[in-house]
Amino acid sequence: MADIEVSREGRVQIIRFNRADKKNAITRAMYKTMADALNASNDDADIGANVLFGQPEVFTSGNDLVDFMAVATGAEHGGEVGEYLKAIATGKKPLLAGVDGLAVGVGVTTLLHCDLVYASPRAWMQTPFVDLGLVPEAGSSLLAPRSMGHQRAFELLVLGERFSAEKAERAGMINRVVEAHDLEEQVLDAASKLAAKPPQALALSRQLIRGDRDDVVARILEESALFAQQLKSDEARNAFMAFMNKKAG
Ligand code: COA
Repeated sequence: MADIEVSREGRVQIIRFNRADKKNAITRAMYKTMADALNASNDDADIGANVLFGQPEVFTSGNDLVDFMAVATGAEHGGEVGEYLKAIATGKKPLLAGVDGLAVGVGVTTLLHCDLVYASPRAWMQTPFVDLGLVPEAGSSLLAPRSMGHQRAFELLVLGERFSAEKAERAGMINRVVEAHDLEEQVLDAASKLAAKPPQALALSRQLIRGDRDDVVARILEESALFAQQLKSDEARNAFMAFMNKKAG
């Protein structure tokens, strides 16, 4: 089974994390598959909306830390993450997510690019960037304060403690808390409704609401440069080692 499953339900493209044994940690190959699927939807008239799903109790634990460790010790970063971030920042079709269980790192910052997010009561979100010796990514340093205000964005992105689904709803990061057994159905229902709307009016309205994305793309690049620099720092290497050692211990 592929680590990312791409399927269709009517006019909705579903992109599903499928690496539950590793808490859906995202590898470079997985970023590439997601970027390709999202990019392909841009000019596909048969796709009216994209949906991101995980597995029961696991949306995703974020970037694969083994991949991070490889970069920290000299491997090339590769362009897959950048391709994925550009795809979520500039994609033409509505992007929705259903979050059940844990969402960490880029699993959270991705949500800031979504047009609609529903989460189950047992969902929680955490972005431990600074604890890992890193900096916020995916444009979150711009999008989070914009949508939730400075203090809550700082709490999320720098203090790095868990946000419950309820707290995320209050912060405006998710639309609604939906019981886990209804979550995917409700997200798909909303996605199907969007996909059934007049495409041009939908696209124009979405563009008006989201605004010019040049600033978001520029911020992603700015963050990425600092992120890449920090990945090779002792602070980050030590944090990744601590995770690996916990695994080994
Ligand atoms: N990268 C690589 N592997 C990961 C991972 C990640 N981001 N998150 C989890 N895994 C792996 C674990 O190493 C473990 O692998 P193993 O079974 O081969 O030992 C497996 O997934 C299960 O994880 P585990 O830590 O045992 O599950 P848990 O329920 O106790 O904890 C988390 C879940 C998500 C809290 C914990 O795994 C974690 O903190 N992961 C790192 C998250 C992170 O920092 N992401 C990057 C953000 S920038």
